[in-house]
Amino acid sequence: MTHGNNDLRRAFEPVTLGPVQLRNRFVKAGTFEGMNAENAPTAALRRHHVEIAAGGTAMTTLGYTSINPDGRTFEEETYICDRNVGSFRVLTDAVHAAGGKVSLQLGHCGALTRTRNRQIRKPGGPSTTVNLYGAMVGALRTRAMSEADIADTTAAFVGAARLAQSSGFDAIELHMGHGYLLSQFLSPLTNRRTDRYGGSPENRARFPVVVAEQVMKAVGTKMAVLAKLNLRDGARGGVEVSDSIVTARALAAVGLHAIVMTGGFTPYSPMYLFRGASPVPAMLVTEKSRWNRFLLRLGARTAFRDMPFEELYFLQHARRMREALDLPLGLLGGVRTADNVATAMREGFDFVQMGRPLIAEPDFVRKLEQGSSLSSKCNNCNQCVAEFSAAGGLRCVLNPPNDATLNQH
Ligand SMILES: Cc1cc2nc3c(=O)[nH]c(=O)nc-3n(C[C@H](O)[C@H](O)[C@H](O)COP(=O)(O)O)c2cc1C
Ligand code: SF4
Repeated sequence: MTHGNNDLRRAFEPVTLGPVQLRNRFVKAGTFEGMNAENAPTAALRRHHVEIAAGGTAMTTLGYTSINPDGRTFEEETYICDRNVGSFRVLTDAVHAAGGKVSLQLGHCGALTRTRNRQIRKPGGPSTTVNLYGAMVGALRTRAMSEADIADTTAAFVGAARLAQSSGFDAIELHMGHGYLLSQFLSPLTNRRTDRYGGSPENRARFPVVVAEQVMKAVGTKMAVLAKLNLRDGARGGVEVSDSIVTARALAAVGLHAIVMTGGFTPYSPMYLFRGASPVPAMLVTEKSRWNRFLLRLGARTAFRDMPFEELYFLQHARRMREALDLPLGLLGGVRTADNVATAMREGFDFVQMGRPLIAEPDFVRKLEQGSSLSSKCNNCNQCVAEFSAAGGLRCVLNPPNDATLNQH
């Protein structure tokens, strides 16, 4: 390493998350890759994550993976099941051989679904509400989940975590943000319940915390268990930092190993999550349905408008979590430069997560370590957001197209 900045140097020291030690403090953020066939990972997905591990990142994260077929936002999404363990195992072995650790992001979409599959259950969420996202498939109303549904879904999270362990993953990241099921329970935007799962921040956190507690009991001594949690939904009437502190404290109390802080609620405030240029113009090019193109154009004028990008765009809110909590915290959102990483270390965060910089340059961490680059080449155009469901899957438009021959197991 050639740079003399102590804070930056600390980012290249190991960190421990529960039973897992990472060789440095860089974790790839889960970014839906679309590299799957029959809902299982392909050779393209394997190569993507191997390149990130070989490029110096301590732990790479597979993007949104559903705990079961019902939890898919898109029909073609990856989900974990007995049938897929073998292909996940090939991938985790390959990442380990490249010197990295590998985490699986596990989630359930709840009402945030665009699947047309009649065999899966009608979208369920905390309450019967209008589901703006479901308008794309004519599922405008959501079903309020019963206590039995909540228990079944908790069991499905535990089953998925066990399968992740059998597949060789070092960690799992429970998705509690961005408007997916657990985030729908946390948010007053979608949770109108009057039972013990609704109302106060403690009640809204109950289901996510029970999921974390049960997953910890099942795999927490063998795997690192993280949660990706919104700091703010970024929409009026949604979750604020004070609510998230309540949730995070409850997650810490059940022994969760780390929290990654994010923000944004997909149907209402998607650009709060990403910042930068709206991906809608690029999405319109690939969207086949006229109705969905109409909805996307509507969205482009409201929630999906450009939103100015700033480096470390969640830092101000993340500081409040840092002050309130003892457990390891990961800073995410606009980490783009060596200085940004040094700031994260100086402010007391335990690791950083990066999404787009590692899509653009899988070896960005190595470059930072060697001092051959101080800044990501990502320009926050967000075209990769539009590209992930295109043939060949996720890619940065600044790079050559993906190798289509790898789109098989
Ligand atoms: C193409 C793309 C796909 C994404 N898919 C996911 C996902 O599957 N799960 C998730 O939690 N966040 C997803 N995100 C959000 C990222 O994990 C991350 O929170 C966001 O990009 C901010 O980090 P960055 O500034 O380092 O990119 C995605 C982001 C991009 C750009
Ligand atoms: S397409 Fe490339 S440059 Fe544009 S936001 Fe994605 S990673 Fe960054």
